[in-house]
Amino acid sequence: MKTKPIWVEDGVVKIIAQTLLPEEYKVLDIHTIEEMWDAIKRLEVRGAPAIGIASGFGIYLGIKNASFNSREGFIEAVDRAAEYICTSRPTAYNLFWAADRMKKRAREIEFTNENEANDIILQEAKKILAEDIASCKSIGLYGAELLASCEGLLTHCNAGALATSEYGTALAPMYILHEQGHEFKVFADETRPLLQGSRLTAWELKQAGIDVTVICDNMAGLVMKTGQIDAVIVGADRIAANGDSANKIGTYSLSILAKAHNIPFYIAAPFSTVDFSIKSGDDIPIEERDGDEIRHFGERLTAPKDIKVFNPAFDVAPADNITAIITEKGIVEPPFKENLQKVFNEGKLKE
Ligand code: MRU
Repeated sequence: MKTKPIWVEDGVVKIIAQTLLPEEYKVLDIHTIEEMWDAIKRLEVRGAPAIGIASGFGIYLGIKNASFNSREGFIEAVDRAAEYICTSRPTAYNLFWAADRMKKRAREIEFTNENEANDIILQEAKKILAEDIASCKSIGLYGAELLASCEGLLTHCNAGALATSEYGTALAPMYILHEQGHEFKVFADETRPLLQGSRLTAWELKQAGIDVTVICDNMAGLVMKTGQIDAVIVGADRIAANGDSANKIGTYSLSILAKAHNIPFYIAAPFSTVDFSIKSGDDIPIEERDGDEIRHFGERLTAPKDIKVFNPAFDVAPADNITAIITEKGIVEPPFKENLQKVFNEGKLKE
């Protein structure tokens, strides 16, 4: 699987412009932390793990363009950059997790000069990216074991390579199963209002040669009822300590539908998405986005111009509706409150 949404080339941070897909494949050069903030806000780079990686590179760009000549000045510059990048979107925990990690790294080093400090921060951001590749591969291997006998899978939004570093989370087991020669069919919810399912998941899976069918979000119940789905697998933006999992709006309803049809409902996510400081999903901040995303379908106005709309970008699948959480350190089964912590402490990457 070769799609990568974010990388560094000759010292320049590059991202795929995801709002243009699938019509156009365009790579954007990101030179400043402000450009990175904007790219995250506008969803040019999106998906929790990819936002985490963008957070790391954004902080690097922030300090690269700042000037400081002491340890205190360096730490202050990193803190300022971290605080700023964390205002771009509120839900994906990886954004905050990565920013905290960069702040911690800044405090560990012995400051000698600006160039060296910049380089250490860049290396840390690259490390976050490299670790995410290994995590996604591991999620894929654990997930592939779990889903090996499935012929029909349903996913929502895009939790694929585009949303991570490579492989994805929810799509990672599909890539592994495909590599292993398994035959299966994927139904991709189109994912209103911004169509990450039909624009991105379908694009990714089609490129990989995986059998993918796009459905409107309101068709999920029908494909379940008619026996076409053996498991639902989605990603997560933030998982609370009790296993409640925030993911793209519509995930909550999907979890209820899966339960009603006795279909296993899996969350696939790395531990960088788990916020152990939050007890339950009730405490997860949910982003509300511009109403025009709902009033328009692309360029076309599909509701009265000034009509009131409600546009939450995420909702929470309650732990009770989740069969298991597939992480890079192993498969976590209920009770999640105990087992998330246990697997985090004792689990292992699958090689
Ligand atoms: O608003 P988006 O496109 O950033 O939302 C993304 C999702 O909801 C994904 O499912 C989630 O971040 C998991 S990505 C591996």
